[in-house]
Amino acid sequence: MTDPYESFAERYDLFFGPFDEHDPKTTEFFRTLFAHHHVHSVLDCACGTGRDLYLFHQLDCEVFGSDISAAMLAQAERNLASHHVSVPLDQADFRELPLTYAKEFDAVVCLSSAFFEMPDEVELRRALASMRGVLRDGGILVLTAGMSDRTWRDKPRFIPEVNRGDFTRLFVIDYFDAGARFNVVDLFHDPARKDMQVWSICYNRVFLRDDIEGALRKVGFHRYTFYGSYEFQPYDKEMSGMLIAVAEK
Ligand SMILES: C[S@@+](CC[C@H](N)C(=O)[O-])C[C@H]1O[C@@H](n2cnc3c(N)ncnc32)[C@H](O)[C@@H]1O
Repeated sequence: MTDPYESFAERYDLFFGPFDEHDPKTTEFFRTLFAHHHVHSVLDCACGTGRDLYLFHQLDCEVFGSDISAAMLAQAERNLASHHVSVPLDQADFRELPLTYAKEFDAVVCLSSAFFEMPDEVELRRALASMRGVLRDGGILVLTAGMSDRTWRDKPRFIPEVNRGDFTRLFVIDYFDAGARFNVVDLFHDPARKDMQVWSICYNRVFLRDDIEGALRKVGFHRYTFYGSYEFQPYDKEMSGMLIAVAEK
């Protein structure tokens, strides 16, 4: 199977500032959530380049990372090593986590729309059931997505992600029936480099709040909360620009 991130992994982190600096609201969200649910061990099952592994390590958690992409895992390895942090990393499809992990975690997280890479509801349920399968009783699953009911309704075509003196990154989004193609347009405009690169990922299916709730219930989660921001605002279909789901096993 081809890895869509192979040609993007080394540039992925241009979304963010320094690897060891996180948005304070995100940090406080996880600190508060993990304290409330007595979370010590955390599996980030779509860990990408490892930014959130570093954050959870800073929050004194026992951290594990997995991802399906060898290229993203290699970048995570480099990022963590350069910050002197050691985290076990495994290549695993998040639809099959019990094949890789015999232990149960206090929390499993799947962040930044990674579950949109599931082609349909059957595969989404497979993924959520697998994540549930490596959670202890009372443990929590955390999902986040940058696309919300509101953004799906408004269908913005251009979203600036980064706009610095030397570099600009823009999402240019094509919408179709139930899915969307995200084109990531990078413009380098520093004195040494003036060029453009485009990378795209296609989501066959964008899962909104009610789709996620239905899938969570079908795989056995009956206690869950949807937030619309990292400040614990309740999710509002009309207003929220992002979605966070927290489900308790
Ligand atoms: C948009 S990136 C998000 C990475 C990271 N969570 C973040 O917040 O930066 C999506 C990640 O999901 C991973 N992914 C996609 N499908 C997966 C699957 N079936 N199992 C595990 N990881 C998967 C991709 O390889 C990629 O690293």
